Amino acid sequence: MKSMRFLSVFIIALVLVYSCRTKVIQEKGSTDINGMINTIATQLKSSPLLDGTYPISGNKTFPRTVGKSGKLKLVTKRDWTSGFYPGVLWLTYDLTEDTYWKDNASKFTELLRSEQFNDADHDIGFKMMSSFGLGYKYTKNEDYKQVLVQSAQTLITRFDDKVGCIRSWDHHKDKWGYPVIIDNLMNLELLFWAWKETGDRVYYNIATTHAKTTMKNHFRSDYSTYHVVDYDTITGGVKFQGTHQGYADDSCWARGEAWALYGYTMAYRESKDAEFLRQAEKVANYIINIAKLPSDSVPTWDFSLKDKTNESKDASAAAIMASAFYELSTLTGNPENGKTYIKVANDMMSSLSSGDYFNKEGENKGFLLKHSTGSKPSNSEVDVPLVYADYYYLEALERRIRIKNQLN
Ligand code: GLY
Repeated sequence: MKSMRFLSVFIIALVLVYSCRTKVIQEKGSTDINGMINTIATQLKSSPLLDGTYPISGNKTFPRTVGKSGKLKLVTKRDWTSGFYPGVLWLTYDLTEDTYWKDNASKFTELLRSEQFNDADHDIGFKMMSSFGLGYKYTKNEDYKQVLVQSAQTLITRFDDKVGCIRSWDHHKDKWGYPVIIDNLMNLELLFWAWKETGDRVYYNIATTHAKTTMKNHFRSDYSTYHVVDYDTITGGVKFQGTHQGYADDSCWARGEAWALYGYTMAYRESKDAEFLRQAEKVANYIINIAKLPSDSVPTWDFSLKDKTNESKDASAAAIMASAFYELSTLTGNPENGKTYIKVANDMMSSLSSGDYFNKEGENKGFLLKHSTGSKPSNSEVDVPLVYADYYYLEALERRIRIKNQLN
């Protein structure tokens, strides 16, 4: 009798586990999402790096964009974008569950190993979290964990107590003494990760101090952002607030605002400090209600341009914002705001997934999206594919699937 009861409980549990599993697969397998994932995999496979046209050798092994001549532009591991291609491969592994992507992701991740010691700028967080960070998330490889802990140790050597920030750049010493850029918020994810994995509060303290100093000095009263703030290391005071990649010192560079939205959403997710949630929602309000998005929801490279008719779009800014808006919708305590964030993110993803932004099969050397802008003021990478646009597009897609599965 007892064994019969045990058997029926066991069978019910098995059915429940199985139905949960099929729910995830069904969502992934629905015509829309499944078709999209197949399109993504086919396009990525047309890259010269995966079809064997470009052997993976020499110093330049990471795709960043397509040059004017139509050739794939590769960069070295030291470039700030080097982690995004391994990241694209890890995300595609997660979306497809096909080990082909895992094998390639592991190969490109490995090429970045020595970057754990690179203290020349703040970009170690971007590089290592998108490669080793995702690799650790999906494989639990202990060796990846050690690389990440060392990377966090390297990053905090750039923190200055007096300023209360991690220094971003060492270049342009004639122009800035201690430059901190809004993008730097993204590197804090590595420190929050290290705090949780090692239990060492020094990482938490530096991450939250940097985020709070940035709240004070990088924002205007409408929550638009300055790209660059230069600090005096003797007094800790602000010497300059302006731009490097935006239109003007008093304008709002679209990707900078996207980093701010993503950065404070992530800082709240990790720390549960309510100040960061409030900041993320204020930035969201600026994007949605003050800057106002164009009809296709993909911003022009700077929000403050008066006449945007002939200006280039920045699909990378839309992809970063879409990913952040999906996440913010799960964290806000306001259900109405949550619905708005999902709608804005869905609108951005619809445009990015349409033929207006998504490359045709085989076009643009295997990149997914076109029409991004790297740095308009230096006329560099204007209206081109960019690897980080693809990375955040895939992350947004993954978050969208997760949210849809939870709501169903
Ligand atoms: N972090 C550099 C950029 O967004 O262009």
